[in-house]
Amino acid sequence: MRIAVTAETDKAEPRVAATPETVKKFVALGADVAVQSGAGAGAGIADADYAAAGAAVAPDAAAALAGADILLRVRRPAAAELAGARPGLAVISIMDPFGNEAALAALAQSGATAFAMEFMPRITRAQSMDVLSSQANIAGYRAVIDAAAEYGRSFPMMMTAAGTVPAAKVFIMGVGVAGLQAIATARRLGAIVTATDVRPATKEQVESLGAKFLAVENEEFQQAQTAGGYAKEMSKEYQAAQAELTASHIAKQDIVITTALIPGRPAPRLISADMVRAMRPGSVIVDLAAERGGNCELTRPGETAVENGVKIVGALNLPGRMASTASSLYARNLLAFVETLVSKETKQLAINWDDELVKATALTRDGAVIDERFKKA
Ligand code: NAI
Repeated sequence: MRIAVTAETDKAEPRVAATPETVKKFVALGADVAVQSGAGAGAGIADADYAAAGAAVAPDAAAALAGADILLRVRRPAAAELAGARPGLAVISIMDPFGNEAALAALAQSGATAFAMEFMPRITRAQSMDVLSSQANIAGYRAVIDAAAEYGRSFPMMMTAAGTVPAAKVFIMGVGVAGLQAIATARRLGAIVTATDVRPATKEQVESLGAKFLAVENEEFQQAQTAGGYAKEMSKEYQAAQAELTASHIAKQDIVITTALIPGRPAPRLISADMVRAMRPGSVIVDLAAERGGNCELTRPGETAVENGVKIVGALNLPGRMASTASSLYARNLLAFVETLVSKETKQLAINWDDELVKATALTRDGAVIDERFKKA
């Protein structure tokens, strides 16, 4: 069995899908590993580190891919990158298939079997393969660090001979994996933290981290969590009540970090332009939902907008800003999944098509798109 790791072709992606640590484990599993020269550069991993771990360093992508059974990537490769690959090559990455049906169809036609890591079921057995969690945790941390860097004042209260500096007030909107890490990080930096979400389960989580919970806790709130643990899209009435409750709170905050997402839907709009204008100049909003349309009306993805002295950071790929840490966790997620795809006896790729992890993540097979949601290309 041969595993290939090629360099990311998206210039904005510094992460890499394997690390020397995971290469060593793949070799121990009985695999040959080929890493394209320079693949780890953005994450601070040199070719020599991969070679020392037992990988062959290939001069280009084609050489790395030659004869490979599995290709590991952070983002979905273009079909053209797979020219010359073996039919049935298992491509494992974040596939981002929504709205990219044509690219997925092309990948299918190349003969590849595409696995979308972001569709890994959130069940106990697959926790170690959960790329959404491993990367969201980093994004939540980094959002607070970026907010602190943009903010012209201090996070902790400081009592000095020259007088006292107040602690920053930080409000976290959306308390999933990223939001919880943002709360913990802001607390560690000494801020006064409040948080909101529409799922009732988050109240206790927020309080256990030493932050104060704020939400419209009506009947709809009690029903807002799906069986899968995600949020539902809330009614117009709920959204209006939520906006009314949060508007006066946001006006008093120094930092607002938004992370609210609903699977398969645009990000909910939680902060209007008027709410931004009511904030003090010098305040900072970091919008982690920027990639999905943004939680704030004034967010410009990939840019920092300024309105009335308030900075609105349209953060993109925050895990990529910590490429070394993000890659090491992502690479371990992939290793854990690949271990389930390899036969212990033959040490060859042996995909069990009845396994629920495979069923949930496989998007293409034998030249066709097999996930109903993306067949319409
Ligand atoms: P996500 O990234 O889909 O959404 C982030 C947060 O935004 C969620 O907490 C959601 O409730 C919130 N949100 C959505 N609409 C909102 C609105 N209008 N106003 C305020 N907040 C809103 O969520 P993530 O981080 O993927 O977590 C989803 C769930 O999955 C959580 O319950 C988490 O604990 C659970 N989970 C379970 C795992 C497992 O292996 N069992 C692993 C990781 C997460």
